[in-house]
Amino acid sequence: MSTDSLPSHVPEQLVRDFNIYMPPGIDKDFHEAWATLLAEDESCPLVWTQKNEGHWLPTRSAIIEEVLTDYSRFSSRSIILPKSHSEDHGLLPTTIDPPQHHFYRKTLNHSMAPAVVNAMGDDIRGIVKSLIDGFVDQGECNFSRDFADILPIRVFLSMMDLPEDDIPQTKYWTDQLIRPDGTITFADALQNLKDYIAPYVDERMGVDGIDMLSRMINTETSGRRLTREEAIKLSIQVFIAGVDTVVNLLGFVFLFLARSKEHRLQITSGETSVSDAVEEILRRFPLVTVAREVTEDMEFHGVQLKAGDMVAAPTPLAGMDNAFTANAVNVEFGRKQGNSLTFGRGAHTCPGKNLARVELRIAIEEWLKRIPNFQVDDESQLSFSSGIVGVVNELKLRW
Ligand code: HEM
Repeated sequence: MSTDSLPSHVPEQLVRDFNIYMPPGIDKDFHEAWATLLAEDESCPLVWTQKNEGHWLPTRSAIIEEVLTDYSRFSSRSIILPKSHSEDHGLLPTTIDPPQHHFYRKTLNHSMAPAVVNAMGDDIRGIVKSLIDGFVDQGECNFSRDFADILPIRVFLSMMDLPEDDIPQTKYWTDQLIRPDGTITFADALQNLKDYIAPYVDERMGVDGIDMLSRMINTETSGRRLTREEAIKLSIQVFIAGVDTVVNLLGFVFLFLARSKEHRLQITSGETSVSDAVEEILRRFPLVTVAREVTEDMEFHGVQLKAGDMVAAPTPLAGMDNAFTANAVNVEFGRKQGNSLTFGRGAHTCPGKNLARVELRIAIEEWLKRIPNFQVDDESQLSFSSGIVGVVNELKLRW
């Protein structure tokens, strides 16, 4: 491996050949690929990779937790790797540190309050049932295409009171921001989403409405409301963060359930509640990797960091880290929870976590009622991708 352009403060013995978009062994299993970092010994609490413009990688979940929590030393002003991609990002509130972050976060929390999310329960159940109706009699489905790809975006558009006809176009732009295929630039995809949402923001500004977009735009927090530009940036961030994560988590959840008759039985027999099952599956299968920018030169766990360095925060590590959760690799429904990094930590902890939980719970409930026994159609066809959000590429199921 070439270390030609290795920054002078990075010792060669900490350099690893690790691409967060293609961790070693990703062809077999996404979480095991990330867990290769856990094999590093105590002398390497962080390692450096030259990939993606060069950045640090913590090898322990406790360090990831620290990086996510300590915003004064690890800023959110750059949260995407490679760092140059962060320059085009600039969305709210993800790229703002406290205390400025509080204002946006209060607005967001208000628009996603438990009452708003709980009121969506019947709609979500209706969408889940109608999707299952579409394939239950066929004995098989392309789970990714026929279920996971559709449920979160329909729920989201319904919450925002936006037309369902917009799904294909908005999904394409959102996908391009997270896993670009080269057909459009990051900046253009972002601009298209802004142009898409702008007329809805204009239409609803100053008009009382109960949908999430209206609540977001019209809520007065700390004596002021969002400006038009802020409202556009905030709603797009919710779009990006709220759809792709649930789509892909559904892939990992249903892959796990398809492979484990024992865990399916624990749910269908009532031995475990669906809510407990959801918590444990969330703990075991985190999938988001954001990053932070180092704000000052410092020694961190014995490693020299320089202002401007990037540090990845790969939450998938936490699902496999025995130092974080005993027997972490085992899915044990009913185990005491509380340590999961799946929804992040600190000021930017996911505001959509309750919505995500409700979507997962209802999806599992309705699916197991209609399809209690199912398998992966062809294990040899399974593949995974890594990135800001991990992916089971295409999951086909049969029953
Ligand atoms: C299983 C599904 C989900 C997972 C695993 C997930 C994970 C995360 C994580 C790890 C963060 C922290 C990012 C950081 O620290 O920089 C985050 C932030 C965020 N999430 Fe989620 N999320 C999920 C679902 C949702 C949903 C359904 C919504 C909204 C409808 C949403 C909206 C957001 C927003 C707006 C942020 C930025 C918050 C801030 O910067 O203060 N997420 N999410």
